[in-house]
Amino acid sequence: MDIKNLLVTGGCGFIGSNFIAYLLAGGHFNGKIINCDKLTYAGNPANLDAINNKFPDRYVFQKVDICDGDLIRELFDRYEIDAVCHFAAESHVDRSIKRPESFIQTNIMGTFNLLEAARAHADRFQLFHHVSTDEVYGSLGATGYFTEETPYRPNSPYSASKAASDHLVRAYHETYGLPTTISNCSNNYGPFQFPEKLIPLIILNAMEGKALPVYGDGRNVRDWLYVEDHCEAIWSIMQKGKRSETYNIGGNSEMENIRIVEMICDIVDEIHPAADGAACRKLITYVKDRPGHDRRYAIDFSKLQKDLGWKPKETFGTGLRKTVEWYLENGNWVEQIRSGDYQKWIEEHYGS
Ligand code: NAD
Ligand code: TYD
Repeated sequence: MDIKNLLVTGGCGFIGSNFIAYLLAGGHFNGKIINCDKLTYAGNPANLDAINNKFPDRYVFQKVDICDGDLIRELFDRYEIDAVCHFAAESHVDRSIKRPESFIQTNIMGTFNLLEAARAHADRFQLFHHVSTDEVYGSLGATGYFTEETPYRPNSPYSASKAASDHLVRAYHETYGLPTTISNCSNNYGPFQFPEKLIPLIILNAMEGKALPVYGDGRNVRDWLYVEDHCEAIWSIMQKGKRSETYNIGGNSEMENIRIVEMICDIVDEIHPAADGAACRKLITYVKDRPGHDRRYAIDFSKLQKDLGWKPKETFGTGLRKTVEWYLENGNWVEQIRSGDYQKWIEEHYGS
């Protein structure tokens, strides 16, 4: 595979911006990256300021909505796109429960537009990699793991829209022979994650002495993966993965939510203690549960490990500490995303 012009969708979001930095600053990719992002509340081009300055000839940003099929086709023509890594999505479960429509538009129709544009350039097109989630498999009981063969049973509008997009990608391979790969990954954490998700929300609230909201009994379980490990896994699948296959990606780090909140409290107490010396754990507040809250996710990624030799490098302990330190050191980033048009955008699209 010799990708020259890689279209990364949603590259101004959490994982997408880490992925672009991994490829360019990490020296893993020699071609050009075209980052197409609509800049919703979750997208921040400043995440890539350093990349923009360092790689002016190999990094291009285009503010484009993937729901606009004409603009997507134009992008494919103008930049002679020969591969796609597709991150762009509405990604937060709680928002999908409140207002599902944009999830259906972006996650399903947006993916459809990208697949259509790729199909129209079948002569030069090398790979469509679709970034998805383990949430498509539904919820587990106390035991067991999701494998690539687990039937899809999505429970939230978010996971249902991601499941639909996975099926479309699969169908474009089966029907049109489009070269595709799909990855289904567990919960990510690390730098640049928007503070609506559990880990950054708890870190910032803990540092600011605010209540730490824990849904239900706090015993729901997620598997956690440090974002850079996810980027490495995706790139490994894009380079060496078998076309048309799905790969599960996981972090070997199953954890109850309450345990994560306690771990964050302990790190914050150590590196950013409250002025009055009060323990952060006192801020923990149990709140009303999320409707349809999946109880447990756990992922078997032995296929990826066996076939492509990937495994996570970071442990949850080391990754979490690095993440808390990053939020502590990047107050400007936090201020920036909290100011400007962000609140207005959220109100317009989600009503709160
Ligand atoms: P994010 O919400 O941080 O970023 C999403 C990005 O997509 C933003 O930059 C946003 O502006 C952009 N976007 C949204 N709608 C768009 C549209 N219509 N057109 C163009 N751009 C649009 O999300 P993330 O956490 O970085 O997740 C990226 C991908 O990874 C998603 O597809 C998500 O389903 C998947 N995923 C995320 C996790 C996780 O834990 N965060 C885990 C597994 C899979
Ligand atoms: P989240 O980060 O929203 O990811 P996902 O729903 O995709 O797994 O939530 C992770 C877990 O943390 C999930 O079980 C819901 C829970 N949670 C809380 O307890 N409090 C919160 O404030 C948030 C945002 C999530």
